[in-house]
Amino acid sequence: MILRSTIDRVFETARVEEVIGEFVTLKKAGSNFKGLSPFTDEKSPSFMVSPVKQIWKDFSTGKGGNSVTFLMEHEHFSYPEAIRYLAKKYNIEVEEEEQTNEQKQATDERESMYLVSNFAKDYYHDILLNNPKGKAIGLSYFKERGFTDETIKKFDLGYNLDDWSAFTDTAIRKGFDLNYLEKTGLTIVKDKNKQFDRFKGRVLFPIHSMSGRVLGFGGRILKVDKKAAKYLNSPESDIYHKSKVLYGIYQAKQSIAKEDLCYLVEGYTDVISMHQAGVQNVVASSGTALTPDQIRLVRRLTPNITVLFDGDAAGIRASIRGIDLILEQGMNVKVLIFPDGEDPDTFAKSRTTEELKSYLDENSKDFINFKVSLLLEDAQNDPIKKAGLIRDIVTSISKIPDNIQREVYIQECARVMEISEKVLFNELAQIRKKSERDSYQKSQQQQKQAERKQQAQIKEKGTATSTQKSPSNPDDDAYFQMMIAQKQASEGGAVKAPKVPVINTLEIFEKQIIMILLIYGNKQVDFVDWLEEADEFGQVKMVKDEYSNVVSQELYLQLQDDEIEFTNEVFKKIYLEIITKLNVEEKISIEELTSHSDAEISQTVTDILMDDEKHILSDWEGQEINVTPKDEVLPKLVTDAILNLRRVLIERKIQDLIQEMSKGSNRENTLEAVVDYTGLKKKLFEKLHRIL
Ligand code: CTP
Ligand code: MN
Repeated sequence: MILRSTIDRVFETARVEEVIGEFVTLKKAGSNFKGLSPFTDEKSPSFMVSPVKQIWKDFSTGKGGNSVTFLMEHEHFSYPEAIRYLAKKYNIEVEEEEQTNEQKQATDERESMYLVSNFAKDYYHDILLNNPKGKAIGLSYFKERGFTDETIKKFDLGYNLDDWSAFTDTAIRKGFDLNYLEKTGLTIVKDKNKQFDRFKGRVLFPIHSMSGRVLGFGGRILKVDKKAAKYLNSPESDIYHKSKVLYGIYQAKQSIAKEDLCYLVEGYTDVISMHQAGVQNVVASSGTALTPDQIRLVRRLTPNITVLFDGDAAGIRASIRGIDLILEQGMNVKVLIFPDGEDPDTFAKSRTTEELKSYLDENSKDFINFKVSLLLEDAQNDPIKKAGLIRDIVTSISKIPDNIQREVYIQECARVMEISEKVLFNELAQIRKKSERDSYQKSQQQQKQAERKQQAQIKEKGTATSTQKSPSNPDDDAYFQMMIAQKQASEGGAVKAPKVPVINTLEIFEKQIIMILLIYGNKQVDFVDWLEEADEFGQVKMVKDEYSNVVSQELYLQLQDDEIEFTNEVFKKIYLEIITKLNVEEKISIEELTSHSDAEISQTVTDILMDDEKHILSDWEGQEINVTPKDEVLPKLVTDAILNLRRVLIERKIQDLIQEMSKGSNRENTLEAVVDYTGLKKKLFEKLHRIL
């Protein structure tokens, strides 16, 4: 864990315009900067950065936040990665929190494994480029395959000499622990003193995590050797879980997000050749069957996958299961088959970028048409086979979690197969019923098994142990969690739909109060209030009361007086944050809110703040337009906000009471209360009016 103090220093130091300026061309527009959204291909700018507030907002996608959230969105960093990136940029030392010994050991161990893997990557890359044998054998191999220097660098390709322990010896000489060399599988240790390199005489493809850490390697043999495997891969380890990584995801992530589409291929070389040919949104499953974890990795970036198959039909049938898995994850899947005898690698190499792109565009089929084109040939004149094909397609459709999408596909299937929708819907219902029954039985069985196991454990040790979480890439886990939080926060989408769905008048005023707190909270203002005062004859008079206060304090005191609580959960959280801060430091810090680790808070605060700036976008050359001279009307703004909130609360109270009365319980007291509240409401109206 990075220490809070380090995070604070990072936020204090980082300038959002500098951080974003490295990725987006920004132009001054008044006190803000404007630019083209890096998340869409837009022609006129809707991306805005406020140096004063230290936040950004992309009005075309609704995304927004501070420096850190920008890096998370744009670079797909995890939160800690973004902090580290900024710390490095601004020369801030990263201090880590003390962990328990056990945690520390696990983290240290993984960290050591990352370090050793990174060293190996650099070493192999250096041998490839600078060692005479490396150049003669490894580099010339890649050159022969048409890989450019740029490509070789982009994918960190390498070579290890055909020696017994050249790498291991160097690593140990450099101070790396044999233990970690062995744990990452880079070194194979036989007996005590015999150790040798796993990858020798092979060209190497480092496998990166989403955030760019080296997790493992694929090593390709150069000779044609019937006995040796073409590829040798790193073994599973604490940092490398084959089923949870996709080759090329690090190099592809930005393009996947931007194109809103991911191409899935089989091999390392397919990914690389397509990149070189100008199609960068491509990853490989590395020759094995696709897993749900891998699909979810893509789903963080886009809901659209197109699976690319080699021209030889052999692999296709075996991979069809992968399509159902993708559907099951709620993603849209398309399929494309290359011409006979070609794979993505050979195809990309022998075509121009335009040819490749238009081939991909024109030949991607949705899964129904794909299955049909694949299987209809033998099924065409055979009713039994045709029925089998229909069932097959409906089974795929049944995996789609979304009702509407299922329906659309059923209609498509009916059209293509020339069969009535009604029959297909019946079939669908049956398949779903069956699979529900199956999964119910399965979960029952699993539960029973777990219970039995636990009882056995209790008998054995006298204690029950908690079930182990399955291993995952810790590196990507943090990222995942953060993204989920952000997704949840942004659901109800910032621009298309209101950010925090404002459903009632109460929330409108709550939002207004938050807005006032954020923008004017620290301002000193002269307030006017009218108090009722009785003179010596008992005559009630209205007396003008003038006083000066800080806006935030005034709001706090007034709200506290009436014991008003916010109803909207996010506003409530933000309000509490502000008030807590206020009590300690007597000042509101916007930076702390926009950089809050609770994504819901930082998102909402950013949105409220940026709403205020939106008008600047329409004016590219950026003369500063003054909207309203808010300062002069500030006291009224504050008082009105509270009075309005009170008014709505009282109206609600009256509604509740009237409802209670209609139920007939305690009519007299309730009626009295209604009268009281109605009187109060009238007074509030008067006040609202008078201050006007
Ligand atoms: N693979 C593997 N082990 C093997 C064979 C294949 O791990 N013995 C994986 C690799 O990830 C490989 C992918 O399956 O990239 C696809 O296999 P293949 O098409 O044979 O390899 P390519 O990467 O296409 O290699 P090349 O173009 O050099 O034949
Ligand atoms: Mn291949």
